[in-house]
Amino acid sequence: MTVNDVLTVHGGTPLHGRIRVRGAKNLVSKAMVAALLGDAPSRLYDVPRIRDVEVVRGLLELHGVRVSDGAEDGELVLDPANVESATTDEINVHAGSSRIPILFCGPLLHRLGHAFIPDLGGCHIGPRPIDFHIQALRQFGAVVDKAPEGMHLTAPTGLHGTKLELPFPSVGATEQVLLTAVLAEGVTELRNAAVEPEIIDLICVLQKMGAIIKVHTDRVIEIQGVPRLGGYTHRPIPDRIEAASWAAAALATGGDIEVYGAEQVDMMTFLNVFRSVGGAYEVTDMRPPREGSAGTEGKIRFWHPGGELQAVALETDVHPGFMTDWQQPLVVALTQARGLSIVHETVYEQRLGYTEALNSMGATIQVYRDCLGGTPCRFGRRDFKHSAVIAGPSKLHAADLVIPDLRAGFSHLIAALAAEGTSRVYGVDLINRGYEDFEAKLAALGAHAERA
Ligand code: EPZ
Repeated sequence: MTVNDVLTVHGGTPLHGRIRVRGAKNLVSKAMVAALLGDAPSRLYDVPRIRDVEVVRGLLELHGVRVSDGAEDGELVLDPANVESATTDEINVHAGSSRIPILFCGPLLHRLGHAFIPDLGGCHIGPRPIDFHIQALRQFGAVVDKAPEGMHLTAPTGLHGTKLELPFPSVGATEQVLLTAVLAEGVTELRNAAVEPEIIDLICVLQKMGAIIKVHTDRVIEIQGVPRLGGYTHRPIPDRIEAASWAAAALATGGDIEVYGAEQVDMMTFLNVFRSVGGAYEVTDMRPPREGSAGTEGKIRFWHPGGELQAVALETDVHPGFMTDWQQPLVVALTQARGLSIVHETVYEQRLGYTEALNSMGATIQVYRDCLGGTPCRFGRRDFKHSAVIAGPSKLHAADLVIPDLRAGFSHLIAALAAEGTSRVYGVDLINRGYEDFEAKLAALGAHAERA
């Protein structure tokens, strides 16, 4: 953390105005990796300027992919014509910076016959093991050697289609299988796959490149390997996590925010909860330009309609459930709701630590090891504090806060904006990992915040 990595936030002002979200961080970064599999350039639009994108760009460039900005703002052109090996030292510059490097395994094995993956980074929200990834890669025929400096992989007899069943519908492991199976020889069947909209969008990207992927019912995905893939041109789905984060900010501060680019279809579960809490929203669908009339951009307007907010019980889950990345920002709004709200986190075992900071600001949140308010999950018997009870409404007051991870960090920021007084938020640069231009957006919404 640098001395300048601090935001002074003068809270108590409702956020009002309009902002725009671009392509989803959790699709864009994976689509960039997919470009490695093609033998022609790919073109990706609406790429946000965030650190995760920079890390993936750096790793692609190290491996010989030419990445350049296209004519449109946010357009990237990725040319994989000269894919080459990089040294361990070069790759290790990116150690600890993101979790996306694990997805380079399959594409690099296909292109080069070997891969080196640095130590992973990403948010500290529990142990975040990679056992499903390694098991899957081994089943495809990869030889995986874990070393102190990272992970070395080879594929002495090539990669071959296989039958797999994930113990949990992991987003990353599903993407690992997709990115490996598309060029593997034969058919791969993946059971208990994740089917998040970002995964379906990645499947669209791969299909544009020439892949054959069938999404069956009951989380079964079948991939028929093909000998070669071309490039793609793709406009990604919007970032539904960022959109929900700004929605929560509107509710917690008593404000009114129009989120341009947000789409209803992938946010339905969030919208139901938002309305149950007492938030208001209005969806405007995107309308393409027609002869004689300009098109309109889609947006969702989120606002606090006045009056009291109501407590809710929610459970995070894999798609189509309530996303784990939505809960931290929304919990700040729940501190303002009357009654006892319950949040049962079933995707990550340790994703409620950030509530301590909210308590230091006057919130009343108690975390429990039990599975509260829903179906028992795999963490109940394993002694993890993964359920929270939020008693409200609480008047939040200013505090000094240290940002622990991306989504919790955004929730700290919202809490500081909702609180009376001046808070200092340390480690805000971390928010740049997933929220494009968040400081400019805060300014556009009338927030009073400045560096240091
Ligand atoms: C992705 O992480 C997202 N990250 C996360 O968003 C998101 O919270 C998560 O999916 C769930 O939606 C990216 O897309 C870059 P998982 P991922 O594999 O793929 C366990 C954000 O802030 N597991 O679906 O790493 C794991 O521990 C980030 O944008 C294993 O046990 O998540 C977790 O409990 C945070 N072994 C569960 O599965 C494995 O090998 C779900 O993880 C892999 C996962």
